[in-house]
Amino acid sequence: MTHASIQIRPVLLQFARLILATAALVLLFLIAGMVSSRAADTGAGKVLALQWCASCHLVAEDQPAASSTSLPSFYDIAKDPAWTTEKLATFLADPHPKMPNMSLGNIEIANLSAYIESLKP
Ligand code: HEC
Repeated sequence: MTHASIQIRPVLLQFARLILATAALVLLFLIAGMVSSRAADTGAGKVLALQWCASCHLVAEDQPAASSTSLPSFYDIAKDPAWTTEKLATFLADPHPKMPNMSLGNIEIANLSAYIESLKP
């Protein structure tokens, strides 16, 4: 009887370790998932676009600011297959000369690119 319980204990301990290791892994994946989904938040991208881009570009149908009709709208950019998410990100990291001096961070760039891509018809 005592002999058997002594043998079971190490097995239980190993099992507990396995569960802990699995829980740690799951937690890691959850955190990674949260970070990556935050990296491309179209809602945040729209807020940024309305704030930073709407004075020149048409960025949303419900935008309150008037924009230039001679500039490509974000719908035009989204429709153009040449503007991939990667190209947009590169472009926005080194913005066009006529744009006001705004330093966009990587997360903002990813959100803006994701928002523009989301306007694809
Ligand atoms: C002050 C006006 C202004 C603002 C603000 C502005 N843009 Fe522009 N944008 C331009 C002009 C002008 C062009 C035309 C290209 C050029 O002359 O550099 C352009 C071109 C672009 C293009 C390339 C379109 C094409 O087909 O060539 C993209 C993409 C773009 N803008 C994205 C943005 C984003 C995203 C923002 C906000 C973060 C923004 N722009 C804010 C003036 C502006």
